[in-house]
Amino acid sequence: MTLSFSAATQKKIDEILRHYPNKRAPLIPVLVLAQEEFGELRDDVKRLVATTLELTPSEVQEAVTFYSQLKERPVGKIHFQVCKTLSCDLAGGEEILEYLREKLGVEANVVTPDGRFSYEGVECLASCDTAPAMFCRGRYFEKLTRDQIDAIIRTGRLE
Ligand code: FES
Repeated sequence: MTLSFSAATQKKIDEILRHYPNKRAPLIPVLVLAQEEFGELRDDVKRLVATTLELTPSEVQEAVTFYSQLKERPVGKIHFQVCKTLSCDLAGGEEILEYLREKLGVEANVVTPDGRFSYEGVECLASCDTAPAMFCRGRYFEKLTRDQIDAIIRTGRLE
C-alpha cells in the first residue's frame, strides 16, 4: 500500500504551500509535519515528502541529516529536545533532562510505551542568553522550567 498523509496533515501542508513561492521551499516544515504524523522519517516517509514537494530523495536526505530536529528513528508524538551545551547546562538543562527521565520513566531517545513522549539532550540551540532552552514540535522554549514540562506532559499541548 502506498503511504500517504492523513487528511489533517495534508490540509496543513496545503496551507503551508500557499505561503511559499514554489513547492520545494517549505521542505523543513513539511518534514516536521511528516515526523509528527509518522513518528520518524523512515525511508518511505522521506519518499512521500520528496514526491509531495517534487524533490529528489537525496535533497530530502540532506535536510534530514543536517537538522537535529529531524529523526530517522522513532520519537514520541511530543519529542523534547533540551539543550545540554554549557550555558544551558549551567542554567539547569541537565536537571531538566533528569526530570524528564524521572517523569516519563524512560531513558533519552526511548519512546514512552504509549507512544506519546520522548526526549534527548541536543547541542546548542542558539538561545544561550535565555538558557535553559528547548525545541519541541517546531517551537523554541527559553528559560525553560519544570512547570512548563509538567504542563506539556499533562495536557499534551505546548500552550
Ligand atoms: S548553550 Fe543552550 S542554547 Fe546555546
